[in-house]
Amino acid sequence: MVRVLVITGAGVSAESGIPTFRGKDGYWRNLDPIKLATSEAFARDPELVWQWYSERRQRIRNAQPNAGHEAIARLAQRADEFLLVTQNVDDLHERAGLAKAEMVQIHGDIFLTKCSRCGFEQEQEHEQEQNGVPRCIKCDALMRPGVVWFGEPLPLREAQRVENYLQRDSCGLVIVVGTTATFGYIIDWALRASRRGGELIEINPEETPLSRFATRLVRKPAALALPRLVDELM
Ligand code: OAD
Repeated sequence: MVRVLVITGAGVSAESGIPTFRGKDGYWRNLDPIKLATSEAFARDPELVWQWYSERRQRIRNAQPNAGHEAIARLAQRADEFLLVTQNVDDLHERAGLAKAEMVQIHGDIFLTKCSRCGFEQEQEHEQEQNGVPRCIKCDALMRPGVVWFGEPLPLREAQRVENYLQRDSCGLVIVVGTTATFGYIIDWALRASRRGGELIEINPEETPLSRFATRLVRKPAALALPRLVDELM
């Protein structure tokens, strides 16, 4: 099978019980996640932001990959060349069997804790979340979750991996699933990957800015649509 690019967003984990950012379940204690996931919120109230992330970590640990994650992992095994670019900071793609080398977590990894000053990183190993705000063992500054917040640049090395994949060749198949495609780079990558007549499939119950470029629209939830699509493609 062809060269494949899959791009996922929060919608692919929705059926595993992880609330999306812009969906109605996204609010936490009446707070908008779009405002919590910012360096301004962290500067104002780091403890509050950490509580939100600790709860999200716990929820992700208790969640299971769904049929959508599993279908993507199956597709990866069949493709000549494969890359997943996910905006999700959870580990559900990996737990569904996708190798780290086949995926780019472009918005970071929620289980990483990194220093807000010197960048020192630690993997969160404990089942038990810390209370309060952890401090860096190297420089004593506040530690923060290893995710990309609004307005922050993408991690250079990860963005470069996407660029390398796109530059090497175009893709015969591009699937974009469960994202509002709010960020220009998501649309840009999908269009560049499919530039030489590749199929561009969007799976999303709702319309997005990418919809008008898609060669095929599937207005169904990911855990239903992805297994069907992957079966069909195989
Ligand atoms: P959003 O919460 O913006 O959008 C979720 C999308 O998934 C919407 O388009 C829904 O229609 C769709 N959706 C909901 N349930 C679905 C289902 N069962 N199957 C398929 N699709 C479904 O999440 P993202 O687009 O991922 O970034 O958000 C992008 C980024 O904005 C996030 O990574 C995060 C966020 O703020 C940062 O924190 C930098």
